[in-house]
Amino acid sequence: MSLLIEHIGELVTNDPTRGDGSPLGLIRDAALVIEDGHVAWVGSTTSVPAADERIDAGGRTAIPGFVDSHSHLVFAGDRAAEFAARMAGAPYTGGGIRTTVAATRAASDTKLRTNVARLHREALSQGTTTIEIKSGYGLTVDDEVRSLRIAGEFTSETTFLGAHTVPAGSGADGWNADRYTELVCGEMLAAARPYARWIDVFCERGAFDEAQSRAVLTAGIKAGLLPRIHANQLTAGAGVQLAVELDCASADHCTHLSPADVEALAGSATVATLLPGAEFSTRSPYPDARALLDAGATVALATDCNPGSSYTSSMPFCLALAVREMTMTPAEALSSATAGGARALRRTDVGHLGIGARADIALLDAPSYLHLAYRPGVKLVSTVFVGGLLSKELLDGEPSS
Ligand code: NIG
Ligand code: FE
Repeated sequence: MSLLIEHIGELVTNDPTRGDGSPLGLIRDAALVIEDGHVAWVGSTTSVPAADERIDAGGRTAIPGFVDSHSHLVFAGDRAAEFAARMAGAPYTGGGIRTTVAATRAASDTKLRTNVARLHREALSQGTTTIEIKSGYGLTVDDEVRSLRIAGEFTSETTFLGAHTVPAGSGADGWNADRYTELVCGEMLAAARPYARWIDVFCERGAFDEAQSRAVLTAGIKAGLLPRIHANQLTAGAGVQLAVELDCASADHCTHLSPADVEALAGSATVATLLPGAEFSTRSPYPDARALLDAGATVALATDCNPGSSYTSSMPFCLALAVREMTMTPAEALSSATAGGARALRRTDVGHLGIGARADIALLDAPSYLHLAYRPGVKLVSTVFVGGLLSKELLDGEPSS
């Protein structure tokens, strides 16, 4: 069974051997054939092969579905009041994580699942076709496992973030960071392992220090998980260097970088994942994307969707921020939000529309991908294909008229 999408005004393949030869591999007046859920042919509308079915894209732009490589969708409640306080001048410290932990522990499985489903659908409707989802608002063995189990109902890119913060508690029974790190590396990791692909830690003053972060990631690697890290978000610290040392797939946030950090990332396979929704929502200075790109580091853009520091599921919004606030070009931003995200998840099957890629495609009601940043806040994604199929979740989620 083959499907031809024709009359694509502009097709972004992310395959530089195609079309205009730029990193985006742009083809104008293009067509694409999908077979068995994968891209089987791309080229010009004037020379299309035969196919069982045809769809007319009507001049729309087609891009690879966004790869959101960093989200925290499993939680209950929100922290709108904390956001309002910040907008009135209060700083973001990460202390609010415990508020969400309390709400998450108190929520039923059904409630958590419904929340993830809503955010997942929201992301999909804005063109996200691959999403990583972390645990980290449970912080007990059972609550972390439950979060990962529910995350796994929506994605294969699940991340164990038991080391998100040290849980509340005081007196003799209270946690300290060292004792809690032992739990994370021992019993919690053993229980979480079957439900996770990745291990993550919030390496930050007030969360986990360098030694604790190294212990968490090393234990995870030993258990067969792949490492990634929250690094250098609120302060300059050891996170980025640790990421490179341990060959993490990604160092996320990278808001406070030294020249040595930039150099280390540029000389490594670790992707610098930037999360401008967090700087927007915490009114913080944006990371220096230019320094990273100019040094030759691979950059990814992701939402960091969570109820505290970045309550957005919108990759187009993050892309627009990256262009306007981080001096990325529209092409760099789109590449980072697709191919960059795939690199950050060590995936070769998504983030591009070269031959053999999974047919994850977002059609934009726009003549060019440039409109993603040029028309911020406007819903341009009209249709989403996941594995070559029109997203059923979106069709089912459509309000009946
Ligand atoms: O990536 N930095 C740690 N974790 C989240 C924020 C979590 C929260 O505030 O609830 C982040 O920004
Ligand atoms: Fe995060």
